[in-house]
Amino acid sequence: MLANMMEFPKDFLWGAATSAYQVEGNNINTDWWEWEKRVGLKETSGLACRHYELYKCDFDLAKLLNHNAHRLSVEWSRIEPDEGKFSEPELEHYKDVIISLKQRNLEPIVTLHHFTNPLWFARKGGWQNEKACEYFLRYVEKIVGALCENVKYWVTINEPMVYIHLSYIKGIWPPQEKSFLKAKKVKENLILSHIKSYKLIHKIYRNESLNLPLISIAQNMQAFVPYALTLRNNIAAYLRNKYFNFEFIERLMCAKTLDFIGINYYTRGLVETRGWGFKNLTLDVCNENHSKLSKNSLGWDIYPGGLYNLLLKLKKYGLPMFILENGICTQDDNLRWDFIYEHLKNIHLAMSQGVKLLGYIYWSLIDNYEWDKGFSPRFGLIEVDYNTYKRTIRESARKYSLVCKTGELE
Ligand code: BGC
Repeated sequence: MLANMMEFPKDFLWGAATSAYQVEGNNINTDWWEWEKRVGLKETSGLACRHYELYKCDFDLAKLLNHNAHRLSVEWSRIEPDEGKFSEPELEHYKDVIISLKQRNLEPIVTLHHFTNPLWFARKGGWQNEKACEYFLRYVEKIVGALCENVKYWVTINEPMVYIHLSYIKGIWPPQEKSFLKAKKVKENLILSHIKSYKLIHKIYRNESLNLPLISIAQNMQAFVPYALTLRNNIAAYLRNKYFNFEFIERLMCAKTLDFIGINYYTRGLVETRGWGFKNLTLDVCNENHSKLSKNSLGWDIYPGGLYNLLLKLKKYGLPMFILENGICTQDDNLRWDFIYEHLKNIHLAMSQGVKLLGYIYWSLIDNYEWDKGFSPRFGLIEVDYNTYKRTIRESARKYSLVCKTGELE
């Protein structure tokens, strides 16, 4: 071993992620499908990457790249297209997806909710409905019952705070609400749904005499950094840390329903408030291009040190952590490798200071549908040609594959 080699644990999980709506295509029974057409988004999801048909080819590529894990989501609206009616063919489909991963020695990490909802659920008020949790649990019981034999890692909800922020506070994503009151209701329902799902999933595994799985959420965390070092900006950064980054985790910890802490990390949030109002303190960001940092193609600052700081802060909870998303959209593949390299370096540094990490999952395995931003942001380790659906492995993916193979970073 070379002296300047960074070593990761032998049982470390290495891989990349996808989410159903962003890659599968033709998810016609979701709220997003209806919404993107109704508001006339420039690019609608359509066939996405045709992953619904091509998943085996995509998993072959992940295996070829030495991954030993893959994070994916199952689409509630496929499994329960109409209220209370479950689709056997779709349950079979996802069983086959999971078996295909296992056959390739890719450990499945399965997300139950990744931003999209069945249209019938959205029409009933979605996550604001009093019975939202009850509806969600009915689906959880079905899908977990179908897949439990082969799944050890479950993520109940992907980035609850991002979902709440974009769908209920900023009013950008469906249902385009701008109400702190509604956001609060949704938050409580999501927390309750996680807690009850956790208990339900454990019960299913116990009834089937299976080893208990490991369950978490995927919490998007940002490094909130005050731009001007004023008292107001410091308070705002503190509040965002508390509510955006940590509240969810703390509430679920209190309920003893986290087996590890799932983290999605992309960027920093430069805080620059324009007043003392509640909205200023919680939402104002620095709009000027003050930052000298390199950026991804959506303009997000690249800030690997922020991940290190967050990992050290999370250490106090005494749970293992798992990077469930970390990635960059860019046309510059060298920058992609730099991004991965720098983040792994910071992760390694945190681990050398006692942070226990189960694995690292890059976002994303293949280019995909970046929600309201369409297909132009390119996050993939693998390029997708949207005319032919041909996949091409990027150079960064090959470099990352070496790390996956050896567990070492030079
Ligand atoms: C989400 C993904 C998204 C990615 C890049 C995460 O917030 O989980 O669905 O594509 O970030 O924006």
